[in-house]
Amino acid sequence: MASKSSAILRRALLYVPASSPRMLTKSLSLSSDNVTYDLEDSVTPSAKPQARTALREHLSDLPSRPSTIRELAVRINAVETPFALEDLTAFAKLPQLDAIVIPKVNSASDLTFVTDALRHLAPGRHSSAGSNPIKLIALIESARAVMDLSSICAASPYLSGLIFAAEDFALDMSLTRTPSLSEFLYARSAIATAARAASLPSTIDLVCTSYKGEEGLARLEEECRSGKTMGFNGKQCIHPSQVDMVQRLFAPSEKEVEWAVRVVIADEKAARAGRGAWTLGGAMIDAPVVGKATAIVAKARGCEVDVDNLMNKWKDQEPE
Ligand code: COA
Ligand code: MG
Repeated sequence: MASKSSAILRRALLYVPASSPRMLTKSLSLSSDNVTYDLEDSVTPSAKPQARTALREHLSDLPSRPSTIRELAVRINAVETPFALEDLTAFAKLPQLDAIVIPKVNSASDLTFVTDALRHLAPGRHSSAGSNPIKLIALIESARAVMDLSSICAASPYLSGLIFAAEDFALDMSLTRTPSLSEFLYARSAIATAARAASLPSTIDLVCTSYKGEEGLARLEEECRSGKTMGFNGKQCIHPSQVDMVQRLFAPSEKEVEWAVRVVIADEKAARAGRGAWTLGGAMIDAPVVGKATAIVAKARGCEVDVDNLMNKWKDQEPE
């Protein structure tokens, strides 16, 4: 089972179709926690060999990852297709690749297949002594996968996150997506909970398919807030215009960080005075609340918030 790692931060996962030379180039100028080059559904079957070759060249030519991107990933084709092994063979050895996104994971054996392939194709990174293995992120997009989450989560030591894919799930279930997203409540909740139970650091929510103009951004904002409330810590994006909002809304807000800093500072003083439960602004604070505050401070640091400045501002905070 993969261990929880605070170093992995995937707020926005931006898909870039590998078949578009223009978008490949554009991707390098963007700021996003994750950029995922897509060989699956945005590339037609006849265009796949050419897209694979172009993407391989694009990645091999990179001297290093752009500093504005934390993770470079490739979405391969589903394990059940004839393309998957060719995709893995083309990319497994590339040092530029940080992660592989695997679509249509239906059972643990799909992840076992990719894990075994990586161990054969790139043993240096994937032997027991290897360091920095390619991480796996599994797309959950069928009823079968949702019912099999615990075995999927335990299937590979390289698994580091789950993604919910609404469109294929809606197809599988013969249901229609609505703006409320209530039809996905069970699947989304199951995914966020299973990932947490397996200590996977990353849970990435559905794509907001409307991306144009103010209306698109308003829908995106609503979806980000709903995903965050359900326990997701990131969201898939299909257009660069979505990324900034996703990165911002999946980072702790200014208000949250300020509250968390005040709790952490006051708790040190409360602990010294032997007080396990105390109040701040009229609300009771005890161990789980302090734990939440500590996690928010750590995440804020990861999101490049100036936490030290806030610590200084609130250094005199006392428990009430
Ligand atoms: N990644 C990188 N660049 C992108 C991009 C993406 N996903 N989507 C758009 N761009 C670029 C365009 O190339 C254009 O660049 P330019 O200014 O250099 O010309 C700019 O951003 C503005 O694009 P725009 O004209 O608004 O969009 P479009 O009509 O070219 O493309 C989509 C719209 C939806 C077809 C495109 O965003 C896309 O293909 N998204 C990803 C789809 C995908 O991967 N689906 C599978 C996963 S669900
Ligand atoms: Mg899909």
